[in-house]
Amino acid sequence: MISEDPLRDDRGNRDLSITRPRDAIPMDPIVPTATQPATSVVNAFLVGEAMVGGYGRGPSILNGCTIAAEKGQIAVIVGPNGAGKSTAMKAIFGMLDLRQGSVRLNGEDITRLSPQDRVAKGMAFVPQTRNIFPSLTVQENLEMGAFLRKDDISRTMEQVYELFPILREKRRQPAGELSGGQRQQVAVGRALMTQPSVLMLDEPTAGVSPIVMDELFDRIIEIARTGITILMVEQNARQALEIADKGYVLVQGANAFSGTGKDLLADPQVRKSFLGG
Ligand SMILES: Nc1ncnc2c1ncn2[C@@H]1O[C@H](COP(=O)(O)OP(=O)(O)OP(=O)(O)O)[C@@H](O)[C@H]1O
Ligand SMILES: [Mg+2]
Repeated sequence: MISEDPLRDDRGNRDLSITRPRDAIPMDPIVPTATQPATSVVNAFLVGEAMVGGYGRGPSILNGCTIAAEKGQIAVIVGPNGAGKSTAMKAIFGMLDLRQGSVRLNGEDITRLSPQDRVAKGMAFVPQTRNIFPSLTVQENLEMGAFLRKDDISRTMEQVYELFPILREKRRQPAGELSGGQRQQVAVGRALMTQPSVLMLDEPTAGVSPIVMDELFDRIIEIARTGITILMVEQNARQALEIADKGYVLVQGANAFSGTGKDLLADPQVRKSFLGG
């Protein structure tokens, strides 16, 4: 269900404290739905629109795909291996130059900004691999996440420990000694230390057990309910679409299907081709 105000639905908690003050980020009235044309995403909070790009001088990996997410919503990208999901995330975060298309955040064109400048604008990215510093302690990893901040970070760190209590217990241990699920919590926690308005996660549940996956998805819902926009790539397509306000099936760098998570889960073609029937 998508309520009129994504901050006021009934999932998760209502604590807005981990995000920036709401008045810093005006609400956008346009909520895209499956039936609206692609142009309706033009005013979404985060938009990667008609993106075309590849690596170096190589062939285009992204072939015009559009990904959008509203404030406080969870948008999920699924699709086969090599479809360009991670590449789309890199493009939106500024790690890949676009040949065509644009990226916009809160109405501002950020297509030419460096990743560092996008972090300063409120974007945080947890990459698919090597997303923690294994030899640093859990607490040092969180501190590294806040390196751009000049204000007091202790409150945010406390919020991360409240979200992931096991990290408080293990805060003095090298992050590399933690379990896979706990390391993902460190990676997400580190990203939250910048107080982002957009949190991008590339396969946050890769290699974790179903129970740990459910737990992590619950925390991700909680984060979204604080008003943070979540853009997530997921291999566990069915479970991820269950929590998705908006879902995208990417095939060969283009949009194959998009709609609400529920729509995609109910679509016979999506089920047959991408969800195992
Ligand atoms: N750094 C790179 N340099 C050159 N080509 C790359 C690079 N990274 C990815 N590719 C190529 O881009 C295409 C898309 O890769 P990408 O990692 O975006 O796919 P994906 O959908 O995230 O796949 P997966 O589900 O396996 O994570 C693949 O053909 C891949 O070989
Ligand atoms: Mg990938």
